[in-house]
Amino acid sequence: DRLPALLRAMPKAELHMHIEGSLEPELIFALAQRNAVSIPYASVEDLRRAYAFTNLQSFLDIYYAGASVLVKEQDFYDMAWAYLERAAADNVVHCEMFFDPQTHTARGVDVKTVIDGLHRACVDAQAKLGVSASLILCFLRHLSEQDAFETLEQALPYRDKFIGIGLDSSELGHPPEKFAKVFARCRELGFHLVAHAGEEGPPEYVWSALDVLKVERIDHGVQSSKDPALMKRLAQDRIPLTVCPLSNLKLCVFPDLSKHNLGALLDAGLVATVNSDDPAYFGGYMNENFVQTFAATGLTAQQAWQLAANSFQGSFIDAPAKSRYI
Ligand code: HPA
Ligand code: ZN
Repeated sequence: DRLPALLRAMPKAELHMHIEGSLEPELIFALAQRNAVSIPYASVEDLRRAYAFTNLQSFLDIYYAGASVLVKEQDFYDMAWAYLERAAADNVVHCEMFFDPQTHTARGVDVKTVIDGLHRACVDAQAKLGVSASLILCFLRHLSEQDAFETLEQALPYRDKFIGIGLDSSELGHPPEKFAKVFARCRELGFHLVAHAGEEGPPEYVWSALDVLKVERIDHGVQSSKDPALMKRLAQDRIPLTVCPLSNLKLCVFPDLSKHNLGALLDAGLVATVNSDDPAYFGGYMNENFVQTFAATGLTAQQAWQLAANSFQGSFIDAPAKSRYI
């Protein structure tokens, strides 16, 4: 079977990964020691044992605890560089990385420290790995819109170092329209807009991400298949869905990878893509997502090509760069 080799070798773009979710347990312990931060786990093995999630919130609690070891600019650089080297090994040639400034500013880390470290890794990735990388600032939806506005203000002096705005964290009970005003402001400022919707939340959240926030892509969006009218809208407007199969498996969005609806999304003509979300926590980077999903669902080489093409089509790279890949 030559499909796994094709999946690994094909050039691809990653459009949905949280850089804080690329922190491997070994790096968490190394940074904890370097910064004299205490974490409530005795060892790398002890921490890894805690990675048994039942839903999104059970993951987020541990993900925010892990991010508490990030303090200095170099910490953010080291985290992003480790991910970018790993991405290059999976033939990811372009990536758009999410970061969560509020997770850090709430602990007294300046947004400049966060952005400078991440951005320096992106610059080095182009020069040393041939990987183009850009940043998308995410607001935490469990916090207030006012808090998001304050975060935007703090980040605007560095606006040339990130290309877009996203929305992540606890979905249920925090619908997209909670952030209508701040997304309208980000739109005026000329940022690309995306939002997590339809991961655990209902199709209504995908509708309001599109119609109220006016996002260009939907992160996850897998619950859209419950609403035929929404499926039609996503197909007609060619709205990319950044699907994360191993994440969905680990957070129990689907009971089994063989039950994943990626094939159904593609069959409905949607611009679906494959992504790793939080690779250090969910058991695999890009190629692992592709290989395991194809093995479980029986997707074909033709669909592999389609997913790679969709990843560039759905990306925010400029049209000449897109035409080199599609
Ligand atoms: N969903 C919502 N918020 C997140 C995720 C996710 O999968 N990963 C990191 N923050
Ligand atoms: Zn995500």
